[in-house]
Amino acid sequence: MSKRRIAVLTSGGDGPGLNACIRAVTRRALREEGVEVLGVRWGYRGLVNDDFELLTHRDVGGILGKGGTVLGTARCPEFEDVLVRRRAIRHLNMRGVEGLVVIGGNGSLTGALKLHEMGFPVIGIPASIDNDVDKTDIAVGVDTALNTIVEAIDRIKDTATSHQRAFLVEVMGRNCGYLALQSGLAGGAELVLVPEREGPPMEKIADVVVDAYVRGKGHCIIVIAEGWKPGTQAIADYLRSRHEELGFDVRVTVLGHVQRGGRPLVFDRTLGTRMGAFAAEALLRGERGKMVALQGSHLVLVPLAEAVARQKPLDPKLLELAGMMD
Ligand code: ADP
Ligand code: F6P
Repeated sequence: MSKRRIAVLTSGGDGPGLNACIRAVTRRALREEGVEVLGVRWGYRGLVNDDFELLTHRDVGGILGKGGTVLGTARCPEFEDVLVRRRAIRHLNMRGVEGLVVIGGNGSLTGALKLHEMGFPVIGIPASIDNDVDKTDIAVGVDTALNTIVEAIDRIKDTATSHQRAFLVEVMGRNCGYLALQSGLAGGAELVLVPEREGPPMEKIADVVVDAYVRGKGHCIIVIAEGWKPGTQAIADYLRSRHEELGFDVRVTVLGHVQRGGRPLVFDRTLGTRMGAFAAEALLRGERGKMVALQGSHLVLVPLAEAVARQKPLDPKLLELAGMMD
C-alpha cells in the first residue's frame, strides 16, 4: 500500500508550546495506517529550499516541555512572492506530501492561506505570544508568555517599592496590546498603554505617577505595549524632564525576547497537544484552508481567510477594568 504523507512546519516568532504542537501532529497522524510525517526545517524557508526530514514517533519524544521549536523557525519575506510559493508547492508535490500543517501567527497563517488559494491543502494552528490571531480565544504560547511577564512585573515591583520608583515596563505584542493589557491586569499596574487606544497625553501619564506618589503608593508601574506610539522612550524622556514634580525616580525595563523563551506551562502543553492532534485529524480527513481555533472550551475549524482578515480586537470590558484598578 502506498504511503500517505503530511508535513508540518513552524513559522514566524517562536513561543512556548510549539513543540507540543509538532509532537501531537506527528503522533496523531502516525496512528493512522500508512501515514508518514515530514518535518520542514526553518519554516517557509525550508519549503523553498526543500529542507525536509522524516519524523518518527521517537523523533518527537522528550520535546513536550521544551521551549522554542525543534524544527526551527524563520521569517521568510520572499514567501510573499507567488513564484517562490510555487517552488515551495513543487517541492511538496515532488515529495508526495498531500497536505501541510502550518503552526504560527498572523503572518504565517496568511502565508498558509496563500498556499491554500493556490490549491495546496493546508490546516493552520494559531501560535504566537501576541494573541493577535482572530477567531480563536487564545493562541499557543500566550499563557506561558503572560506568566513570564507577570513574574517579571512582580519582581520589578519588589525593587520599585524598595527604592520608591516608577517603572515603565515594555512588553511585546507587535501592533497588539493583548500582552500589555492582560499582564497589566494580573500584575496590578497603575496604567496600561496599548496601540488599540490612542493617548493619553504625556501630561496625563505624569498625573498617574504623581497621583500614585501622593496616595502613598510605594511604586508606580506602567505597562506599555511595544506598538504603543509615541513609545516607551518618549514617556521616559518626558517624565524625566519633570523629575522634580514626580516624587518617584523613573526606570525603564524592556522585557524583550525573555517573553518568548522558556518551558511551556501546562496550559500551552495541553493546548498545543489538543490543537496539533485536531489539525492532523482534520487534514487527513480532507479538510482544507481552515485554522484550528479554541472557542470556549471547544476546538473548532474556522476558515483561514476569516482568521487573518483582521487583528484580534481587545476586549473593551477588560480595558475598562484595567482603568479602574489603579
Ligand atoms: P507571525 O507568523 O509570527 O505573525 P510574521 O508576520 O513575521 O510572523 O510572518 C512569518 C512569515 O509568514 C513571513 O516571514 C513570511 O514567510 C510569511 N508571510 C507573512 N505574510 C505573508 C503574506 N502576505 N504572504 C505570504 N507569506 C507571508
Ligand atoms: O510576533 C512575536 C513577536 O515576539 C512580537 O511580539 C515582536 O514584535 C516580534 O515577534 C519580534 O520579532 P524578532 O524576534 O524578529 O525580533
